[in-house]
Amino acid sequence: MRSRGSSRGWQGRDVISIRDFSREDIEAVLREAQTLRPDPDLLRGRVMASLFFEPSTRTQLSFATACERLGGRVIGFHSKEATSQAKGETLADTVRMVERYADVIVIRHPLEGSARLAADVASVPVINAGDGANQHPTQTLLDLFTIQRCLGRIDGLRIGLVGDLRYGRTVHSLAAALTRFEGVRLRLISPPTLRLPEAVKRELDGVLPYTEQEELDLRDLDVVYVTRIQRERFPDVEEYERVKGAYVITPRIVEEQLDKNAIILHPLPRVDEIDPGVDALPQAKYFEQAGNGVPVRMALLKLVLLGES
Ligand code: NCD
Repeated sequence: MRSRGSSRGWQGRDVISIRDFSREDIEAVLREAQTLRPDPDLLRGRVMASLFFEPSTRTQLSFATACERLGGRVIGFHSKEATSQAKGETLADTVRMVERYADVIVIRHPLEGSARLAADVASVPVINAGDGANQHPTQTLLDLFTIQRCLGRIDGLRIGLVGDLRYGRTVHSLAAALTRFEGVRLRLISPPTLRLPEAVKRELDGVLPYTEQEELDLRDLDVVYVTRIQRERFPDVEEYERVKGAYVITPRIVEEQLDKNAIILHPLPRVDEIDPGVDALPQAKYFEQAGNGVPVRMALLKLVLLGES
């Protein structure tokens, strides 16, 4: 449907890339997520189609929970094998069917640009739940919601992005979103082969100061955003074998390097990059972050289906 518009034009709007969102738009979602309460009447009679062509636990379940808490119904599938795409149907044809069954489409797909394609075809709003290594805008909104709730602000924060900055779509969206805020500084920590793509760095240039390094150093950060090495996106397994396990955040590292008031986030799932011993430390906020997927996705569904009240 439509990808752009002011925050007043929420109804029918697509959520494809965080780049389509102004600061005002982001703040409108965070405000709505803060105040919206479960309401079985709000989306009564509406249907959300959940089209997941890639594995997902949190994103899929929190979208479904969000929809049901507002009284809507959910249809969909969780794997390509379960659909007619396994018989050769194109994504565009699948979307042309589904828009006749549903009022909003949530899509996750391994190909970059797939959500945009779906939005171009569909007459109902489309929400991107992750397209390949490209974008994951709803994750970014819940990341920002979590930062705002834990630290009271986003402006002026020193944020470290750690791990697979090359293939991790959550960091591509988050870095782009942070350019909307004032005085944020980024420390990009990754193996040399997994640095943030040039195209994303160009968006930061002149807007958001950043440094790049290989060494894991968490000193003087307010937020540490850890990511999984995205094994499924490596064209070459040997390259993955060389970088897997590159970083492991342990209780000892947290104790030695991290400020008491700093927070550790991770979009999850984690593999081995955060030692489970860290979970009990006060800085560990990743499970709270995963929980925030529900209010943020409730807010988005309400906004794109009903508009701002
Ligand atoms: C992320 C994703 O799918 O990009 N997971 C999520 O949605 N919470 C991160 C990942 O898979 O590593």
